[in-house]
Amino acid sequence: SVATAHSFVAQAAIDDVDLAALAARLGTPLHAYSSSAIRQRIGGLQAALSGLDATIFFAVKANPNLAILQLMANAGVGADIVSVGELRRSLHAGMPPERIVFSGVGKSADEIAGALTVGIHRFNVESHDELLTLQRLAKAQGVTARAAARINPDVDAHTHAKISTGKSENKFGVSIDEARRWFAEHRQLSHVQLDGLHVHIGSQILTLEPFRLALQRVAEFWRELEQAGHTVTSIDVGGGLGVCYRAGEDHPVAAADYVGVIREALAGYRGRLLLEPGRYLVAEAGVLLTRVIRVKPGIERQFLVLDAAMNDLQRPSLYDAWHDIVPVSDESRPLTTYDIVGPVCETGDTFARNRVMPECVAGDLLLIKATGAYGASMASTYNSRPLAAEVLLNQGRYAVVRRRQHFEEMIAGEQPARHWETT
Ligand code: LLP
Repeated sequence: SVATAHSFVAQAAIDDVDLAALAARLGTPLHAYSSSAIRQRIGGLQAALSGLDATIFFAVKANPNLAILQLMANAGVGADIVSVGELRRSLHAGMPPERIVFSGVGKSADEIAGALTVGIHRFNVESHDELLTLQRLAKAQGVTARAAARINPDVDAHTHAKISTGKSENKFGVSIDEARRWFAEHRQLSHVQLDGLHVHIGSQILTLEPFRLALQRVAEFWRELEQAGHTVTSIDVGGGLGVCYRAGEDHPVAAADYVGVIREALAGYRGRLLLEPGRYLVAEAGVLLTRVIRVKPGIERQFLVLDAAMNDLQRPSLYDAWHDIVPVSDESRPLTTYDIVGPVCETGDTFARNRVMPECVAGDLLLIKATGAYGASMASTYNSRPLAAEVLLNQGRYAVVRRRQHFEEMIAGEQPARHWETT
């Protein structure tokens, strides 16, 4: 693939923090997030939503670091969670329970009970079995759960198959026919207030059409429900707004245009709107700082071996995702072509193939860009590589928000098989 002129423009600072000095102090690989950039995204989206009764619920999975969640909470943003772990993180970061919604196809009874106990805002329900479980557990606790039916609108989001969720073949949500039956039967549910609709069709969506189609189907269903005498007080339009991973090639839709589609599709709707963006708020605010370990002339290709690997950032190996990779220093060097890889022992540990880059030498500092979403959150310790540190930047200053994992932390909880027991 052809490199664009943008793809090797050096970047020495982020949020007015000098990256070479930061890496020298904290080591690499290092996830760095610009809080100014995140606040800007939040502010932009909130401005686009002005005049609407709309609340942003950040999809915690995109970046669950406590400092990020705290930033969200302080900016008036809620949390869209998919596990009790994310629930506990959100509460820990100061997110009020009434600003938490719970999504996911596999909520366990324990997780539902836990969320009921703290009194979260709403459950996005994805199956009849879950609806009945919610009723049973809410009744046991003597509380009423608010619920939305997650609709699978059978819309193609034109994104990577592994992150597409709104086709009827996907495991997510239920058909409008099934949701219609839920509403018809909902008066039998004494402890579930089913008064919302939810839709989320996929992630990294770069055009408006899939959103428009999905929302039109939801709107049609909402009107039908209202006519049948049901009240829809809440419509959750999900997340999925795409970002720019490849300068000059990706052209994400603007927040205002996205909200324009919501306004148009849901014209006349007077209830509350919920949005669940993850990537849009944090992806481009984050970078992965990494050093070149060595340049290895291979048999057929030249390899640039980094100290970051697929365990630090899985997106390229998992989805063949493109991330721009740029030098931190702008000293001018001739361009060359590399396969950019990590030290992990499998060929999938590749960040980029045939990437045109300024020539590198061992010790050079590079940035893998747009790693603020689904970067650290999907990291593992594969190859017994400790989790990288994370740092939040803010107008010339930095705060370590996750220290680099120690070896002892990595093996904590493991032990030799000393005591053999029988069940
Ligand atoms: N709401 C629900 C119900 C979701 O399942 C997701 C993401 C979101 C909101 C947020 O979507 P976003 O605005 O971030 O697109 N690991 C993949 C992305 C997986 C997305 C999963 N669900 C990646 O790195 O591309």
